[in-house]
Amino acid sequence: MEHKIEELKAAANDAIKKVATDLKELDNLRVRFLGKKGELTALLRGMSQLSAEDRPRIGKIVNEARAQIENLIAEKNSELKAKALQDKLAAETIDITLPGRKIHSGHLHPLTLTLNRVKEIFINMGYSVEDGPEVETDYYNFEALNLPKSHPARDAQDSFYITEEILLRTQTSPVQARTMQKHKDNAPIRMIAPGRVYRRDDFDAAHSPMFHQIEGLVIDEKITFGDLVGTLDFFCKEMFGESTKIRLRPSYFPFTEPSTEVDVSCPICHGHGGGCKVCHDSGWLEILGAGEVHPRVLEMSGYNPSKVSGYAFGCGLERIAMIKYGIDDLRLFYENDVRFLNQF
Ligand code: DAH
Repeated sequence: MEHKIEELKAAANDAIKKVATDLKELDNLRVRFLGKKGELTALLRGMSQLSAEDRPRIGKIVNEARAQIENLIAEKNSELKAKALQDKLAAETIDITLPGRKIHSGHLHPLTLTLNRVKEIFINMGYSVEDGPEVETDYYNFEALNLPKSHPARDAQDSFYITEEILLRTQTSPVQARTMQKHKDNAPIRMIAPGRVYRRDDFDAAHSPMFHQIEGLVIDEKITFGDLVGTLDFFCKEMFGESTKIRLRPSYFPFTEPSTEVDVSCPICHGHGGGCKVCHDSGWLEILGAGEVHPRVLEMSGYNPSKVSGYAFGCGLERIAMIKYGIDDLRLFYENDVRFLNQF
């Protein structure tokens, strides 16, 4: 009996040691040696044939054998589990010396960048930023700006009419009238109004049926043409660089009197020409229209032209961006070619 137990221990020891990775295999061994129908249990059954004095001694040996085999299995079990963990960690090792994958992040569109800068410059001068509808009435788009139905200047802005009285706004100037009407009692105004405008133009390097304008309006007591010039000069220097100069040409707009068109010195060749593609060697680029607010425009929106005066200006956002970045084709802004956009 003792001999058989020794043999059984040796067999269990051997078998358990041989298990290399498989936990299931180890469990099968536990059943084979210690289970209800296992080999050690079978040996125990044989105890009934032993003499009364042998029984306690052999019983003790069997119990010790069981404990030993259980220990072996437990040890092997933790060994296998540790090994499995080790293998898993090895398989999942990250090589931190590999160069990382570049994450391409998007960025703001050049028109947005330009608009943000324009807003920043005017907000710093105390201007508010106003908004108005893109689907506008004929009244605000034209009449309130001193352009009655028969006015020839309407033709210059070929419009998308929705009904006879409603159109897509052709300019941001209607926000002038809307803002004046929001205020009362000749209250001072200092605002810009950026936004989309629409005209029936063909799509080419210089035209688009949709583009962006920024309107400006300042009204207060004793506002002069000199204030307008100083403001625009400051704006252009902030926008295009300290050495930028402006030049005024007399012009006509129905909503301002007197009116002017404003050019900036070319920020690409600094007015030196020399084959400059941006200003075509003229040294100057037209940037905006402006003037003193026409008394009739003030009156129509409830302001008293004998008490207050004002100036207004309007420029194309695309125009500013083209001058700033030296871009010669408007279509680039709308095509969303990443080779173009990535440059900003
Ligand atoms: N609305 C004019 C246009 O679209 C631009 C303009 C000119 C706006 C003179 C003004 C201004 O406020 O005073 O051509």
